[in-house]
Amino acid sequence: MLIQNILVTGGCGFIGSEFIRQQLRLPETTTIVNLDKLTYAGNLENLATFRSHPRYVFHRGDITDRDCVETLLSRYAIDAVVNFAAESHVDRSLQNSAPFVNTNVVGTQVLLDASRNAKVSRFLQVSTDEVYGSLGATGFFVEETSIAPNSPYSASKAAADMLVRAYQHSFGFPAIITRCSDNYGPYQFPEKLLPLFITNLLANQSVPVYGSGQNVRDWIHVSDHCRGIDAALRHGRPGEIYLFGGRTEKTNLEITHLLLKLLDKPTALIRYVADRLGHDNRYAVDCSKSERELGWRPEVTFEQGIQETIDWYRQNSAWVANVKSGDYLDYYARQYRQDNTLTGSSAKCAASLSFA
Ligand code: NAD
Ligand code: TYD
Repeated sequence: MLIQNILVTGGCGFIGSEFIRQQLRLPETTTIVNLDKLTYAGNLENLATFRSHPRYVFHRGDITDRDCVETLLSRYAIDAVVNFAAESHVDRSLQNSAPFVNTNVVGTQVLLDASRNAKVSRFLQVSTDEVYGSLGATGFFVEETSIAPNSPYSASKAAADMLVRAYQHSFGFPAIITRCSDNYGPYQFPEKLLPLFITNLLANQSVPVYGSGQNVRDWIHVSDHCRGIDAALRHGRPGEIYLFGGRTEKTNLEITHLLLKLLDKPTALIRYVADRLGHDNRYAVDCSKSERELGWRPEVTFEQGIQETIDWYRQNSAWVANVKSGDYLDYYARQYRQDNTLTGSSAKCAASLSFA
């Protein structure tokens, strides 16, 4: 369907900024309006080169602010809303879940209501495979897998998805939900596994592996995820859920050893720390519906993507230094307290498990 004026929320974050970079290269998109609160994770530098692009508008604001959302929807004749805005980090949700409920649940409700009143043609909710909870050693999440979120983050995303579903069901509101596995790539805030470990290793600092490091994630390059969102927005059917994943399952220790190798650093930099509370064991996504119905495929191999991501962080040391300062240092000290380090027999046990 023809979509020209898009309201993107959370466009100064990791994935939203990649989506905007892609959209501004497409001739069919007329205007991109980016509504972002600029929380600790939002960074104007992520879109610095587009600041004066003729088809790009930035507005600093909160998705829970109904007046603000309504004004943007009508001022820019928005036909589609793509909701990336969220508190997105599991560990922070374990420290304080309040902002997660406010932005992820209340914010989504405000966007849904305002978008319904404005009669937008499409509403795309960017969600996560984490709403499905945790898998054992085998099997994959599919669209119909029952929702069973385990962290306050995933619970807030699941609640938002349920609101989207209810608006579609009750009002025939043209909404689509996409759920994706773990993303990696440039501009990711260094609190998530890959950018945290890459930037620590570049600075010869230790990397904190939770528990045994045997938890599995399915990795997808952020550009593949954003191409999937575009395909779902323009070619997806309202009321449907589409999954995206990279078919690249790795344990956290496999990732850690690969980074040590690519960066030529010693294994002594691995620091085993206390496990994450309620740590999900394994995520893995069957994205064959998206491949079949949207003609989408992940294109970036993990080998290529991880090398390019390392190169990006190496070449953008000013960006890294800028975000790894101020509040970040307080967060890091709280999250990775020295007394959380596993020592003696527990560290040996974790290390032996890692090579089992
Ligand atoms: P991010 O934390 O990098 O960015 C979030 C952005 O939202 C920031 O720019 C922030 O300023 C903005 N924001 C936060 N609260 C806001 C509010 N109340 N109003 C307006 N803006 C607000 O997150 P990300 O990794 O880019 O994730 C984007 C979306 O994709 C999220 O909805 C997340 O749940 C989902 N997702 C992420 C992953 C992943 O691996 N990172 C995987 C699947 C789904
Ligand atoms: P993360 O990047 O937070 O994403 P997810 O939303 O999938 O939890 O974490 C990815 C995996 O890496 C997860 O199993 C937790 C683990 N992890 C660590 O071992 N150490 C860390 O410092 C972080 C941030 C994550």
